[in-house]
Amino acid sequence: MQFPQYRSRRLRQNERFRRLVRETCLSVDDLMQPLFVCPGTKVRNPILSMPGNDQLSVDLLVEEVKSLRDLGIGAVMLFGIPRKKDERATEAYAPDGVVQQAIQAIKKDVDDMLVATDVCLCGSMSHGHCGVVEDGQILNDPTLELLSKMALSHAVAGADMVAPSDMMDGRIGAIRETLDGQGFENTPIMAYSAKFASAFYGPFREAAESPPQFGDRRSYQMDPGNTREALREVALDIQEGADIIMVKPALPYLDVIYAVRETFDLPVAAYNVSGEFAMIKAADRLGWINGTDVMMEALLGIKRAGADIILTYFAREVVPILSSHT
Ligand code: PBG
Repeated sequence: MQFPQYRSRRLRQNERFRRLVRETCLSVDDLMQPLFVCPGTKVRNPILSMPGNDQLSVDLLVEEVKSLRDLGIGAVMLFGIPRKKDERATEAYAPDGVVQQAIQAIKKDVDDMLVATDVCLCGSMSHGHCGVVEDGQILNDPTLELLSKMALSHAVAGADMVAPSDMMDGRIGAIRETLDGQGFENTPIMAYSAKFASAFYGPFREAAESPPQFGDRRSYQMDPGNTREALREVALDIQEGADIIMVKPALPYLDVIYAVRETFDLPVAAYNVSGEFAMIKAADRLGWINGTDVMMEALLGIKRAGADIILTYFAREVVPILSSHT
């Protein structure tokens, strides 16, 4: 069938048709809200480059999680700003560390929320790198032990899922073995498998107070040009025991999300990172774009590329809009 018998515009003529034939829809069930927890009580430190996101002490974090739950959001991802930093990231796996306390408090008061935790040492390391540093080198194998301790301490505190974001080789296998050895064989691992060395993490590093104090992360995070290597990283993580695989960032890497979705059958997560959020917010504030519409289109694009799960700082804003549309 061709024009004039066929007319594509017939099914675009009004929202009733468009709704009926829409191939991809965003759902509240797809979303995870990242949250930042800091020491103290009644602390709310706004993150300037991420409007609407704050560092929250545990008491206020629990209130925030309740309001996310009331919106219908089912999952959060926790990041910690520790009390102190050192060369062994001891706060990252302290039984009374800020993330461990936050998990316990959420699980006590809002037990129907899925609590996932970011497992990475950079926030608790004085040098800001994701691994153990000796003589200016970021060491791989000694880091695995600390990451495993960190993941285990989160599971012990009650985390539903752990999400290693460090990009050391072999970390998924090491964490899986540790969890299984301690009776946490039912705790899933969401692996940041294809995590690229990205300038889009800038605002997050302000939020988590975690920028590297020397050098950069390019000896462990992936080179932005590499799709085949991304598939290899995902395959390795699956062999080592990952339950969910992640691509990060999302918008500049939609082709990688698509390739991962086509190649593997595990759930795929995509992380719509801080810089992606900040750009939309900034342009909206300048009046250069309609931030709400751009947010919707960006999140839909990530879903259309193949993501089953979207980690996004927009979760709390987008959910009321989704429900008013249906
Ligand atoms: C920790 C970590 C980072 C992000 C998630 N986990 C920062 C980094 O790797 O430098 C980035 C999240 C974001 O930008 O929203 N390794």
